[in-house]
Amino acid sequence: MDLTLKIWRQASVDEDGKMVDYSISDVSPDMSFLEMMDMHNEQLINKGEDPVAFDHDCREGICGMCSMFINGEAHGPDRLVTTCQLHMRKFKDGDTIVIEPFRANAFPVIKDLAVDRSAFDRIQQAGGFVSVNTSGNTQDANAIPIDKHNADKAFDAATCIGCGACVASCKNASAMLFVSAKVSQYALLPQGKVEATDRVLNMVKQMDEEGFGNCTNTGACEVECPKGISLENIARMNSEYLYASLKG
Ligand code: SF4
Ligand code: FES
Repeated sequence: MDLTLKIWRQASVDEDGKMVDYSISDVSPDMSFLEMMDMHNEQLINKGEDPVAFDHDCREGICGMCSMFINGEAHGPDRLVTTCQLHMRKFKDGDTIVIEPFRANAFPVIKDLAVDRSAFDRIQQAGGFVSVNTSGNTQDANAIPIDKHNADKAFDAATCIGCGACVASCKNASAMLFVSAKVSQYALLPQGKVEATDRVLNMVKQMDEEGFGNCTNTGACEVECPKGISLENIARMNSEYLYASLKG
């Protein structure tokens, strides 16, 4: 396939960026999107030009690092896949592909397509954990009976990989789907109940301090989430937050 790529180039957080057009030939439909980007970067390097910076790590849909906004959609046109799992067979010969970074005030561009998502780390650090006794008297987790329905819901919430596609897809740049997945993961399990009140209050406070927008129930986050995280988690977090606020 021969393609035209329109790629956001930005040298640093302090400099203005712009879209730059490139042509690329002989792209195999069996390549992943990131392999196509690698091929493009090799061509830039061979011409003595600066390669396009983009984040990636596992390349199998687990780490949440690959963050590209492709033809107006976070992780591109396929559903329930990350950018690294997107294949070039989703495009046609002669296509123009527009590639931008995830855009949100709380995700400043580091360079080109790489953005700083450390705001998510700080939200996690504010409460996305359980404190356990590791003195040697730790209770076997399997000794705590957990309702199958709740275990399944908690597992579903735990599949959030923290990629930030929900933020990039939301017109308000809201992080509610991400934060609600992290809150739900623990709220549904007995191990998470101990710190539940502080957790939801602290994580929502940190989310607000990071500059993410409010949720207006548009639902774009759920559509674009590569892990199918449900809006049901946002409803659960709102209820957890109300309870924690009333409890004081
Ligand atoms: S909720 Fe979905 S889109 Fe948002 S960070 Fe988690 S996996 Fe990514
Ligand atoms: S590179 Fe790890 S999820 Fe895409």
